Amino acid sequence: MRPPATADDAATDDAATSAPPPATDDAAERASGRPGGSTPPALTVDGAGKTFENGTRALDAIDLTVRPGELVTVVGPSGCGKSTLLRLAAGLDQPTTGRVTTSSDAVSYVFQDPTLLEWRTALHNVELAGELTGVPRAERRRRALATLDLVGLGGSGRQFPRELSGGMRMRVSLARALVRQPDLALFDEPFGALDEITRLQMQTELLRLFSAGDFAALFITHSVSEAVYLSTRVVVMSGRPGRIVADLPVPFGYPRPPELRYDPAFAAFAGQVSAALEAHA
Ligand SMILES: Nc1ncnc2c1ncn2[C@@H]1O[C@H](COP(=O)(O)OP(=O)(O)OP(=O)(O)O)[C@@H](O)[C@H]1O
Ligand SMILES: [Mg+2]
Repeated sequence: MRPPATADDAATDDAATSAPPPATDDAAERASGRPGGSTPPALTVDGAGKTFENGTRALDAIDLTVRPGELVTVVGPSGCGKSTLLRLAAGLDQPTTGRVTTSSDAVSYVFQDPTLLEWRTALHNVELAGELTGVPRAERRRRALATLDLVGLGGSGRQFPRELSGGMRMRVSLARALVRQPDLALFDEPFGALDEITRLQMQTELLRLFSAGDFAALFITHSVSEAVYLSTRVVVMSGRPGRIVADLPVPFGYPRPPELRYDPAFAAFAGQVSAALEAHA
């Protein structure tokens, strides 16, 4: 478990506009409660830029490291290249400059839309990854059932996506990502389409899964409060071409009770993130 952080750890106002500090083993260790040591980063983005064939320059040189035990969120104005960055991290696209490396091939991607196969039950949707990678039938069934249980859908495996609520569909999508036991999980605004109550529930759920699991995460969101509530660090991007303008360690430990969102310290830190966002939009 991660140790609770103290108020002394709180980032200062200056941090909101200063250059991002280099991620260190110490930082990961503090965030994760697990020894960082010589463990390689789960994701290393090293001077990565992206210009599309039509000339759109989506990303400037991005430097970003996500270490085991970190849940890093990225906030930035619409069109600043957040999804592009995530696609580079997933290996779905290549940078035009710089390098993107992951420490393992076990990388999962959760999209904004659950993108479930409508003709397969929830269980069969979760089993799909195992099918594609040749996991024996009994084993992939066992893993899929266990992961559906983990996301609170133990009783819904036989239902088809059309029979599930938006929140339940997103839970299936999370299960489909986690069943692969990823070392790195990538989330592209997964809760953006959910109603407020379901969204808050899913945030709590994700934190539970993150605390219980053993994966590093990079999470894109438009919501500053979601970013602060979930993450060990908040990375703020400028308007296009996106570059990192602030990298702020979140001064709260885990577990995080939902009431933390109403704490004045939470509001103060969210204010710093918002200020950095507005200054560079
Ligand atoms: N395949 C592509 N070809 C050309 N331009 C693209 C391509 N994909 C994205 N872009 C452009 O790159 C820029 C960044 O897009 P991206 O989807 O990464 O933004 P984003 O930060 O995720 O935005 P949003 O918050 O609205 O989801 C945009 O101007 C977009 O139009
Ligand atoms: Mg996007």
